[in-house]
Amino acid sequence: MAEAPAVFIGILVLCCWIAVANAEYKIYQDPKQPISKRVKDLLGRMTLEEKIGQMTQIDRLVASEEVMKKYYIGSMLSAGGSGPPPTASPQTWIDMVNGYQKGSLSTRLKIPMLFGIDAVHGNSAVYRATIFPHNVGLGATRDPELVKRIGAATALEVRATGIPYAFAPCIAVCRDPRWGRCYESYSEDPKIVRAMTEIIPGLQGDIPANSRKGVPFLAGQQKVLATAKHYVGDGGTTKGINENNTVASRHDLLRIHMPAYYDSIIKGVGTIMISYSSWNGVKMHANRDLITGFLKNTLRFRGFVISDWQGLDRITSPPHANYTYSIIAGVGAGIDMIMVPYNYTEFIDGLTSLVKNNFIPMSRIDDAVKRILRVKFTIGLFEHPLADYSMTKYLGSQEHRELAREAVRKSLVLLKNGESANKPLIPLPKKASKILVAGTHADNIGNQCGGWTIQLQGQPGNVTVGTTILTAIRNTVHPETKIVFNENPHPGYVKSNEFSYAIIVVGEPPYSLTFGDNTNLTIPDPGPSIITNVCASVKCVVVLITGRPVVIQPYLAQIDALVAAWLPGTEGQGVADVLFGDYGFTGTLPRTWFKTVDQLPMNVGDQHYDPLFPFGYGLITEPVRGN
Ligand SMILES: *[C@@H]1O[C@H](CO)[C@@H](O)[C@H](O)[C@H]1NC(C)=O
Ligand SMILES: *[C@@H]1O[C@H](CO)[C@@H](O)[C@H](O)[C@H]1NC(C)=O
Ligand SMILES: *[C@@H]1O[C@H](CO)[C@@H](O)[C@H](O)[C@H]1NC(C)=O
Ligand SMILES: *[C@@H]1O[C@H](CO)[C@@H](O)[C@H](O)[C@H]1NC(C)=O
Ligand SMILES: *[C@@H]1O[C@H](CO)[C@@H](O)[C@H](O)[C@H]1NC(C)=O
Repeated sequence: MAEAPAVFIGILVLCCWIAVANAEYKIYQDPKQPISKRVKDLLGRMTLEEKIGQMTQIDRLVASEEVMKKYYIGSMLSAGGSGPPPTASPQTWIDMVNGYQKGSLSTRLKIPMLFGIDAVHGNSAVYRATIFPHNVGLGATRDPELVKRIGAATALEVRATGIPYAFAPCIAVCRDPRWGRCYESYSEDPKIVRAMTEIIPGLQGDIPANSRKGVPFLAGQQKVLATAKHYVGDGGTTKGINENNTVASRHDLLRIHMPAYYDSIIKGVGTIMISYSSWNGVKMHANRDLITGFLKNTLRFRGFVISDWQGLDRITSPPHANYTYSIIAGVGAGIDMIMVPYNYTEFIDGLTSLVKNNFIPMSRIDDAVKRILRVKFTIGLFEHPLADYSMTKYLGSQEHRELAREAVRKSLVLLKNGESANKPLIPLPKKASKILVAGTHADNIGNQCGGWTIQLQGQPGNVTVGTTILTAIRNTVHPETKIVFNENPHPGYVKSNEFSYAIIVVGEPPYSLTFGDNTNLTIPDPGPSIITNVCASVKCVVVLITGRPVVIQPYLAQIDALVAAWLPGTEGQGVADVLFGDYGFTGTLPRTWFKTVDQLPMNVGDQHYDPLFPFGYGLITEPVRGN
């Protein structure tokens, strides 16, 4: 008899305990729960407003703690140059990112926002970061393992600024160098681009062998989420016009532009960005067959699909002509996160109304939000929403600069070396009485880095910390060798001085995106006249700093040695390492070098193939001791 009240009290206590625990315990907040359960639990708690907020990515320029909180914004970005002042410290970046994050963490469900940045050749918008060669140069190395290490270094430098998400790599297969983004492509050959997807395990970490195909992956808080872009056919547009139309059979699309996506998905890439371009006249941002049908259903990609910057607006021409239509077409095609990036209220109101009026089914919204939440849980964002300063030491570290220098050395392609193999000019003697260094790109970090460096378009001059090629030459020659730098020397000056030899560094100015589209591919003035003026009276090496092959045939006979250095980044020492023979030349062309632009497009394997230097060309030299 005395036991009954005890049992009763016991049950009562248990009930109370469960009630209290229920108030506090939420499956989605428990890191021990499987991700699928956490996603399901959280999605079940969300209102339409909260779901649509998750799908919205805004630029830093319009963000504030208040905005993050009020609109439940799921993601934000710092687009080329939209950040703290150009020379801001990593601590300033972290404070900025954490500030916005506090807005997100103060919402009802405390879903952290995901911050992304265009870390396309290192954490390239940030002052003092290590700037690695642009992808075309990495293609010349033919060294996927090196590219993987660059991915790992980039991840550390991105985390150094409190950011967990990089809009990289670009796995475009550029088929026409007139395209302004051609340097973002590793090669015209899909096999090389496929191999270079090793940057993904560099950025995100190695996916375990037993992982399910297509499931996003991140190895920990020293890694960053990657983006394979731009899906699909971005490098195949007519005449290389940026964002234009890729005319190709389905067979050619799958053969040339698609294969690197298979590799990226197998390697666990978390996100895929859609291309502005069209395929046979259909905007990729509206291509349901290729996004939902092929990418999500056939390839079983389980990460999220993100639009490009104002990608929905550009579905119509002119852009933003009918935003309602754009939202239906883009979200309907299967895009999960929308890089809006400014007028978020227009997007949020538009999408909300379309869902409420059944133009877009709730199942589409749930698919998008599930994918976004899956990625956020995968990368540990709920457990680690705020960055601390412990990783700032990685930004521009000596170790990373050494790695970039190695990449520069391996990216250089020697196209000509003296009149014949038994009269080589390279390796250049370190000991000489007087060497002339000339050219617009010899002492210019900004030119050497190219576009996507600090600013979106890049910028000539002292934009960040690094070693110019001139400084590298000075560091390398014998102490008694006199180096004379004259950017654009007068022909008489060259003639009247007795230079042992000359090193000319010329090329393209920095550019990115459509601003880089170019139909003549000539080296801008005064590059050509510097070559002709100097090479007329002294033995000369020409080092080209360009994002692509350029018109060089008219000057080739005058040039004694020719090096394609692409866009090497901050570590110019790598150029001198190889010119003076401390290391040999090993790079080979990742692209076909045309004779004249009217041959374009011309790619390896074409029936009519008459290049100046074929794809894969490159003279190999041995290192020399005691030079
Ligand atoms: C491609 O470029 C041409 C010339 O600028 C333009 O008229 C056309 O609309 C573009 N096509 C697409 C799909 O962007
Ligand atoms: C915009 O697109 C919507 C959806 O396709 C359509 O109903 C509407 O008529 C269009 N508006 C204009 C002004 O063309
Ligand atoms: C955002 O879009 C709305 C709806 O089209 C428009 O009324 C508003 O002026 C836009 N705001 C900005 C800042 O462009
Ligand atoms: C960059 O800075 C260096 C050292 O401060 C200076 O020698 C050089 O002239 C500067 N270059 C440019 C292009 O401003
Ligand atoms: C080549 O094209 C670029 C980009 O359109 C242009 O700025 C430049 O003036 C052109 N150069 C020549 C020599 O036509």
